[in-house]
Amino acid sequence: MKVTISVIKADVGSIGGHIRPSEALLNKVKKVIADKAKGLLIDHYISYTGDDIAILCTHKRGVLDEKVHKMAYDAFLAGTEVAKKQGLYGAGQDLLKDSFSGNIKGMGPAVAEMEIEERPNEPFLFFAADKTDPGAYNLPVYLSFADPMYNAGLILAPSQEKGFRFTVMDVEYVDADRVVDINTPEEMYDLAALLRDQERFVVESVYSRKNNDQAASVSTTRLHNIAGTYTGKDDPIMLIRTQGNFPATGEILSTFTIGHYVAGFMRGSHHGPLMPVKLNSSISYFDGPPVVSCAAFCIRNGILSEAVDAFDHPYWDWVRGQVSQKAQEIRRQGFFGPAMLPFSELEYGGIVEKLKRIDKKFKVKK
Ligand code: 13P
Ligand code: 13P
Ligand code: MG
Ligand code: MG
Repeated sequence: MKVTISVIKADVGSIGGHIRPSEALLNKVKKVIADKAKGLLIDHYISYTGDDIAILCTHKRGVLDEKVHKMAYDAFLAGTEVAKKQGLYGAGQDLLKDSFSGNIKGMGPAVAEMEIEERPNEPFLFFAADKTDPGAYNLPVYLSFADPMYNAGLILAPSQEKGFRFTVMDVEYVDADRVVDINTPEEMYDLAALLRDQERFVVESVYSRKNNDQAASVSTTRLHNIAGTYTGKDDPIMLIRTQGNFPATGEILSTFTIGHYVAGFMRGSHHGPLMPVKLNSSISYFDGPPVVSCAAFCIRNGILSEAVDAFDHPYWDWVRGQVSQKAQEIRRQGFFGPAMLPFSELEYGGIVEKLKRIDKKFKVKK
């Protein structure tokens, strides 16, 4: 049976700055989706990570479906009204376009979707990150699907021995989706060369080379491309199917042990380590650190099991301690050097005016 798994997420307002949405806002989004789900969706699950609300749903309508996207858009619009009434910060923050036409891509909210031929058992993972951008997933995806140091299955499982195909997007190209397909293991160095540049090249999807089945889908929205200015960080979401011809769940999770440095954190303008957190976690220190949550599911005929919190385990408490130390270490140097993002990323923010003003005062010495 063909099933589509869609996740659409947006920040439409949060309490106390960019910490987390209110209960009233969440309940509004839940109610709108529950009302509209009939005849449209098979199942759905609504959660938050930091100040972002994600609507995960299953249906039979394929990707980029107008009705499914409009449902999410309407829920976020209704949520924005509640956020305004409650005086929440950043009400409607990610709704950057006023009128809906066709699908929600390019309007602000992040989208990750896959149409799959459902396996007799169908485990998958839903990742949601806050205070960072889509490049945050480059390293974990690379290690999960191309590196036997993390994915033992690349050596041990015949089902993975042909490797994977990565579709990588050039997110600096704004007129259309500009993508390249890279096959691993043969083109691993090409993949590494692209993915090291997290702000420009991001993994959009991954496919098994055994049978062409889609393994992963990542949201690629760069909000500053849409808004032309800094309005908030992209806060990407990702779906990954696991087991069988794909990496095991634990192999994928293992790559999040690193707490690698990503762009985001305070005002979306710094580097900070990505901390794996529990579902429905809030944000704190320096509007961060950048966080990622993971809900594990199985589906049958499109019906979702309950969500299991993949980072709710004593092991990850230890990781969180390590990541806090990494956060503290880079924060000690404030705005200097790699602690703050390079100018190419900051140019969407207020510093541009400041530098223009100072530039006029420069003199060339005779
Ligand atoms: P969000 O993108 O999560 O709203 O965060 C914005 C920000 O600037 C935090 O300091
Ligand atoms: P202010 O408008 O309060 O400076 O907000 C900054 C911020 O949170 C960036 O998203
Ligand atoms: Mg926000
Ligand atoms: Mg956010």
